[in-house]
Amino acid sequence: MQNVHSPTPLKLAFVFGTRPEAIKLAVPILRAKYDSRFQPIVISTGQHREMMRPILEFFGIQPHFDLDLMKPGQSLNDFVANAMLRLREAWQTNRPDIVCIQGDTATCAAGALAAFFEKIPLAHIEAGLRTNDLYSPFPEEYNRRLVSLSAKWNFAPTEKAKHALLREHALESSVIVTGNTGIDALLAVRDRLKSDASASLRFGELFSEVVNAKASGKKIVLVTTHRRESFGEPLRETLSALRELASRSDVHVVFPVHRNPAVLEAVRDVLGENPKGVTLLEPLDYVPFVWMMDQSSLILTDSGGIQEEAPSLGKPVLILREKTERPEAVEAGTAKLVGTSKDKILTEAYRLLDSEEARAQMTASKNPFGDGRATKRILDALSDL
Ligand code: UD1
Ligand code: UDP
Repeated sequence: MQNVHSPTPLKLAFVFGTRPEAIKLAVPILRAKYDSRFQPIVISTGQHREMMRPILEFFGIQPHFDLDLMKPGQSLNDFVANAMLRLREAWQTNRPDIVCIQGDTATCAAGALAAFFEKIPLAHIEAGLRTNDLYSPFPEEYNRRLVSLSAKWNFAPTEKAKHALLREHALESSVIVTGNTGIDALLAVRDRLKSDASASLRFGELFSEVVNAKASGKKIVLVTTHRRESFGEPLRETLSALRELASRSDVHVVFPVHRNPAVLEAVRDVLGENPKGVTLLEPLDYVPFVWMMDQSSLILTDSGGIQEEAPSLGKPVLILREKTERPEAVEAGTAKLVGTSKDKILTEAYRLLDSEEARAQMTASKNPFGDGRATKRILDALSDL
């Protein structure tokens, strides 16, 4: 009988450039590396230089191509145009069978366009997230829709994401519900932290201010924010809510500040260098960030990835956005949309901080975003080519 399986491994080009893409592609890249069905080609656009490095180090991933494209103050047009040119060059040296991209960043959009123009089949990981508002989040909602137009495989994290794609007339056979690969990475890190007591001790020493605040009975509120559509007044309102929250004697705010200059500047203006009751930090490496999420009683964030991770750690989330493309967490009751109005943020934060019961109601028994096996489903589907 004829052997229908080609002995030649499929060349998968994984293209990423930002912190969340590195986290969410780490497990697929590593599994593909040790799977004889595949030959991964790892391409970093370098959209985030510093914020991505520790993730690649932790997972032991070395890009075959580092396009090193981050430049201060560059426009989205500059970045996307340069990324497309450099990706094409990389693929001329080593043409992949499939290009794999993740999510909705500028790197992701450039990867999709470049692959389409080169007629290389495209696999989109985390497909089908929608707010149905082209400008929120900006430019991510546009990027996701653009990618869905040309993806041959749409790996949807949830049934809702699948239905969003089918409503846009994606071929049913192209949409596969896998869970989110971010949960695969989170569970790997959580297990590592559990089995390595020295790591927790190390972080306890490194973040002694947080540990001491907790030991003195304060509740830790972890905050991150970086969405472009919130820059300006909405971000300043959020920051002034944080200042007020931190003035409570039973609260300690921990805020790793994103490196985007628009965020850094607003934080400096509204909170100052050394605000009372707040630990301002550089962006945390992924493992200490997971440890920090575990220390907190409440998370305030506009991040997409953190909305997905918090349910696995049993942490309630207030979403600092007007719209979310991840309604599953809101429906499961683990997250609540509060937007950027100071009053709304404070009302909801106080409600949760003051009532153990309210907090307990927001912890899920099951994560709606995945079970830690998304990577396996994705690689099995790709190997069926
Ligand atoms: C980007 C993504 C966003 C994603 C976010 C994750 C786009 C358009 N936006 O937003 O979808 O949610 O990453 O964090 O793709 N910078 C550094 N060092 C770093 C990273 C950033 O200095 O390691 C500074 C640079 O000045 C850079 C700026 O931050 O120009 C903005 O970075 P950029 O990737 O354009 O946008 P983000 O706001 O990070
Ligand atoms: N994260 C991190 N350090 C931080 C803040 C976030 O490692 O200081 C991780 C977080 O656990 C999640 C991812 O970064 O996995 C989310 O990235 P971000 O919020 O930058 O982007 P988004 O998910 O909104 O695209």
